[in-house]
Amino acid sequence: MEALEQAVTKLSDKGYLDVKVPEGIDLIAEIKKLKEEKNAVILAHYYQSGEIQDLADYLGDSLQLARAAAKTDADMIVFCGVHFMAESAKILNPTKKVVLPDTKAGCSLADSCSAEGLKGLREQYPNAIVVSYINCDAGVKAESDIIVTSSNAEAIINSLPQEQEIIFAPDRNLGRYLNQVCNRNMILWDGACIVHEAFSLERIAQQIADHPKAKLIAHPEAQEDLLKFAHFIGSTSRLLDYVVEDDAEEFIVATEEGILHEMAKLAPNKKLIPALVQDESCNCSECFYMKLSTLEKLYLCMKYELPEIQIEEDLRIKALAAINRMLDLSEKIK
Ligand code: 13P
Ligand code: SF4
Repeated sequence: MEALEQAVTKLSDKGYLDVKVPEGIDLIAEIKKLKEEKNAVILAHYYQSGEIQDLADYLGDSLQLARAAAKTDADMIVFCGVHFMAESAKILNPTKKVVLPDTKAGCSLADSCSAEGLKGLREQYPNAIVVSYINCDAGVKAESDIIVTSSNAEAIINSLPQEQEIIFAPDRNLGRYLNQVCNRNMILWDGACIVHEAFSLERIAQQIADHPKAKLIAHPEAQEDLLKFAHFIGSTSRLLDYVVEDDAEEFIVATEEGILHEMAKLAPNKKLIPALVQDESCNCSECFYMKLSTLEKLYLCMKYELPEIQIEEDLRIKALAAINRMLDLSEKIK
């Protein structure tokens, strides 16, 4: 017990419970047991490790997970993803316990934009509404009018009057792509994803030359020079559907590598080639933050119900309004 108390004290520095897992335990069986005992639901994003994806009750992209969080009747939501995703689940479920295996699981996009900064930009454009990508913290959501994900951004922006001035935060690549496909001139926040900006056009060109029958598919967080060559651009779930449904047999996949786990399961006969990044010596197409979740941390967080996501109520209510606008609009335009 003393060890646990010390671990709880250190939680804020470490981001996870630093407690020794009993030797020889079957983590997967224990996690499944805890899920039953505590009426917990495990939500996992496609960028989690394969073993965590396989344990999830719901596996999905940001929109699917937000919808699952809004509908669940579980007592505890265990979010295997990054902090802004777990925070969104808590915004939608104030009375439920929401836990995240490691609170240091951040996001470079979310980190690029502060609520104060966005407020300042809004003051410069008083007639603009603020549309924010879900990859942002609760403070930024509270300063926003509508939240979008990469699955519904195009349809939601198209549903707004053409003459409406819009500030789009925080991803400049997704924003620029949306300006193009929606024929808009949105004011863009200058944030980016470290994973999707790491791809190398030069090395991918070589992959295309080596696999002339392969189709290049990319997430819209990637840079314009890469998106120009993509056969298909979409959110993680759309990329997955495309691989399953399209006739091609080979795909070069320009998004975080975790998605290849589910793609290989759903399209076992297709050849999936992870797009190469600039730095040959790093695993930069893996999101470091997403990979902070491990089976050990997941087990500990379910056992001790920590670390828990907490949000101040005024902030939650404001952020909820922007998320609910997204959920309502995305139901209508489905
Ligand atoms: P999706 O909404 O496509 O799941 O994207 C989330 C994300 O963080 C992409 O980097
Ligand atoms: Fe954030 Fe990029 Fe990781 Fe997605 S892949 S969670 S945008 S850092």
